[in-house]
Amino acid sequence: MNKSNRVLVCAFLVIVVKICTISATCSDTIMSQMQSIFVQNFTQNRALAPLCLRGAFHDCWNGCNGALLLAEEISRSENIGLEPLKTYLDPFLNQFPCVSVADLINSCAVTAVKFLGGPDVPVTFGRIDTGVPDPNGLLPAGTLNVQELIAAFQPIGFDSKEIVTLSGAHCVGVCQGQPFCPGQNTTFGNHYYTQLLNGEFEGKLQTDMDLLQDNTMKSVVQQYATDQQQFFDDFATTLGKYISRIQCNQTSNGPCPLDNSGSSSSQSSTSNSSPPQTAGNTPPSSGGINNPQEFPPFGLPNSFEGPNSFPSSSQGQNGNPTTSSGNNFFPAFI
Ligand SMILES: *[C@@H]1O[C@H](CO)[C@@H](O)[C@H](O)[C@H]1NC(C)=O
Ligand SMILES: *[C@@H]1O[C@H](CO)[C@@H](O)[C@H](O)[C@H]1NC(C)=O
Ligand SMILES: *[C@@H]1O[C@H](CO)[C@@H](O)[C@H](O)[C@H]1NC(C)=O
Repeated sequence: MNKSNRVLVCAFLVIVVKICTISATCSDTIMSQMQSIFVQNFTQNRALAPLCLRGAFHDCWNGCNGALLLAEEISRSENIGLEPLKTYLDPFLNQFPCVSVADLINSCAVTAVKFLGGPDVPVTFGRIDTGVPDPNGLLPAGTLNVQELIAAFQPIGFDSKEIVTLSGAHCVGVCQGQPFCPGQNTTFGNHYYTQLLNGEFEGKLQTDMDLLQDNTMKSVVQQYATDQQQFFDDFATTLGKYISRIQCNQTSNGPCPLDNSGSSSSQSSTSNSSPPQTAGNTPPSSGGINNPQEFPPFGLPNSFEGPNSFPSSSQGQNGNPTTSSGNNFFPAFI
């Protein structure tokens, strides 16, 4: 084969690979069909909605990669309470073979936020499943103090304001049988923040109450308590950013934005008429591999690895790992 033929063959292979990528992503129509089934199911069983939201937090902490629904990962203590999510979502994978697990979880999550009365969270589809469990024990525990919480989110590119914003997800759902926001846990709203300011700590985690210990974070709590629209706007942006962090593959050393250069469909969670949106970040025009400028490096220090290990409250980041009781920052919603 001469040199120019080799170039042609290589170009052809690249195109075939690209087509395979495209066919692995569902059309907008299919994604909409799926979302309407989610809505039917949430209508029957409202508690499924916060379950999907929690699932997205867990699957995407280390980059959205679908590993959460692997038997080995779902059964970890940090995922206590999420087994029903696997039971719920697995049948969709047979019914819609085009969907990746990571897209399925995130489609369910943004539909859930909207269903519960929250904002349209921008979501783009085209996530690739790794098929390999994430390292154990990466998720932050609900028992962290505020400095530890900030330190846990920093490596994945979220600042203290964004932690306050994401914590607002605790306006819905229950933790180990008790609602975070007693009496108000069934609709999305800013009541989580008003309850914190009113000292209504029933159902709250250490990580919730401690938001008041940091002046910057407390001022954000106060802002959201008086301005629900601001909370909704920020939540849409911040959750959108969170769920757009993907791992291209196991060996890539950081998150990468979704490749939006033709292979991914893109839509807002409910409104099909709105223009395609991405999560506040413009994907690169090609590749979609690591873009450390937009997505700071992630992957946590080695001290976070090991079975469900987090620094205990009396130790710094490099303290000996302790075993969490499953009382994590993204706790059980059953
Ligand atoms: C979800 O809704 C679909 C369509 O109505 C239904 O076939 C399916 O059984 C529901 N799933 C659950 C878990 O309720
Ligand atoms: C709200 O809390 C109750 C328990 O008080 C629980 O049964 C219900 O499923 C929760 N609803 C949601 C949407 O989480
Ligand atoms: C995975 O990412 C690494 C590093 O970016 C790259 O060298 C490798 O070719 C990728 N593998 C696949 C299967 O895409």
